[in-house]
Amino acid sequence: MRIAIVQNHPAFGEKKSNVEALIKAVGSVKADLFILPELSYSGYQFLSREEAFNLSDDMKAPCLDALRNTAARNSAALVFGFPEKSKGKIYNSSLAVLPDGREYLYRKTHLFYKETLFFSPGDLGFTIFDYQDAKIGMAICFDWFFPESFRSLARQGAEIIAHCSNLVMPYCQRADFAQAVQNRVFIATANRIGVEARESETLRFTGGSVLVSPKGDYLLEGPPDAPAVLAAEIDPRLAKDKQLNPYNNTFKDRRPEFYL
Ligand code: ACM
Repeated sequence: MRIAIVQNHPAFGEKKSNVEALIKAVGSVKADLFILPELSYSGYQFLSREEAFNLSDDMKAPCLDALRNTAARNSAALVFGFPEKSKGKIYNSSLAVLPDGREYLYRKTHLFYKETLFFSPGDLGFTIFDYQDAKIGMAICFDWFFPESFRSLARQGAEIIAHCSNLVMPYCQRADFAQAVQNRVFIATANRIGVEARESETLRFTGGSVLVSPKGDYLLEGPPDAPAVLAAEIDPRLAKDKQLNPYNNTFKDRRPEFYL
């Protein structure tokens, strides 16, 4: 399976042109599965709940339709972050749209920093789905900080974790090494670049998107400060084998009776 990571630089609130740039990025390489960043076309630094609500989309929104059509046109699956409104609430969500029309929704479980002021915490649990010969798990940015997130996806059978991100701390890209090895999964962290300073606080997004293999190899690494579309061929079967050696198994050797 060929995986592509899109690292973008959205302009805050410019949804239409940001979606157009994403569509162009997806069209620029051939891949089976594209992972895009968190809140991939809205921007991140909302100043009020009202602003976040007004920039959010329900499932019938034109931005979602444009990305659904892109999946069909490119015969590829897309996983992208977007601000979702549903029943008066706003979620920091990601949507997987598959070329056969199937789609899967995930709502960010662990909200980061001022997201807690605007978004409701995800209420769907961790989402996984089948695609081609692999199981894909969905996570969003700060979910990485809680090892239970990727562990829960891996224990449900996920072999590739589609991790849509807007990272501002410098740790995740290196921490992915440990979580990929410990869960024997591929982790694709698609991160954005750029700066948002819509209030006194400046947020700098760290780019450096990565694709890490179950053996800890960095198969893709994006630049820290430029948009990029990166692609690599992977064999999802690598993530199906949880046997470390003849004596140790990633999951069977767990001792949950001693864990808090
Ligand atoms: C984050 O969760 N966007 C850091």
